[in-house]
Amino acid sequence: MTDTIKINVHPVPNSRIGLVDFNNIVFGKVYSDHMFISDFYNGKWQDFRIEAYDMLSFTPGSAILHYGQSVFEGLKAYKNPSGDVVVFRPEMNFRRLNQSAVRMCIPEVTEEMFMEGLTELLRLDKNWVPDLPNTSLYIRPYIFALDEYIGIRPSDNYKFIIFTCPVGAYYSKPLKVKIETKFSRAVQGGTGFAKAAGNYAGSLYPAKLAQQKGYDQLIWTDGVSHRYIEEAGTMNIMFMNGNKLLTASTGDTVLSGITRDSVLTIAREWGIDVEERNISVTEIISSLKNGEITEAFGTGTAATIAPIELIADDENDYQIPVPGPESFSTKVCEELDSIKTGKKKDTHGWIYTV
Ligand code: COI
Repeated sequence: MTDTIKINVHPVPNSRIGLVDFNNIVFGKVYSDHMFISDFYNGKWQDFRIEAYDMLSFTPGSAILHYGQSVFEGLKAYKNPSGDVVVFRPEMNFRRLNQSAVRMCIPEVTEEMFMEGLTELLRLDKNWVPDLPNTSLYIRPYIFALDEYIGIRPSDNYKFIIFTCPVGAYYSKPLKVKIETKFSRAVQGGTGFAKAAGNYAGSLYPAKLAQQKGYDQLIWTDGVSHRYIEEAGTMNIMFMNGNKLLTASTGDTVLSGITRDSVLTIAREWGIDVEERNISVTEIISSLKNGEITEAFGTGTAATIAPIELIADDENDYQIPVPGPESFSTKVCEELDSIKTGKKKDTHGWIYTV
């Protein structure tokens, strides 16, 4: 890759890495030494720099604090058997970040600043990429509005940051999920397809109500009729029915998941019939009742492949068999892990080596 932006790098004098217990990492609680930053002002992204992961300072009037104009991404880096740092499909995250940005009236970032910022950051913090089983370096690029202004209009000033966290599993056990038929995550014409901060804030209260009833997460249904299944909590959702893999089509209301796309690609290569379509709650409940659904799982960068052991509607709980070594979700998870960690040949062009 040719250097087309100038990044000022200010390494920390003392790394914090010695304080980290890599055998017991809690997801999202441990932060690597550095972050990449760029500021948008006078109509362009500038001041590319890498500095200590540390406090930020901006005024109480900053737009992000009031109006939520912010978008983010999540991707992961791994170590391959030669010890190189490899990243899974970063160009997809770059594209999706900009799709989210356009929807939220945020200026798009350039491919150079995204990729070169990421590359330099990972070079500097390569020791933070864990290589124990089921661990990775979670990467969080995000953009937020910084105008000091009370009033609704797009900001003129923004910050783009990439920081990283060594992580273990996001979910430590199979999930119990409840089909949500009152609250909505997304509607046609809304922001559901975008990784916009507010989408996640709006999901907290319905999820909290479900958690009070003993479920881990929700299955979101369409915002008009609540008859069609869309996503599960922070993930896309898939069902195995015989040799058919079912998942909701993407569109305005369903995030175009990169893990989702990778799983569907592998499933097709393995000769599984993939159906991306409207999936009704009635269809899923009747297939659960007659035992046709053998697997249900969520897919996401943080969650990877998250088995679902129970689905509830307003009346009943339905158990789903725990996946065994021959289950599709187990095998596709292993396949993806082997590709991501460079143990298996990358035939799809999914791996970016730093
Ligand atoms: C991801 O899967 O990377 C996400 O951004 C979901 C997040 C809520 C952890």
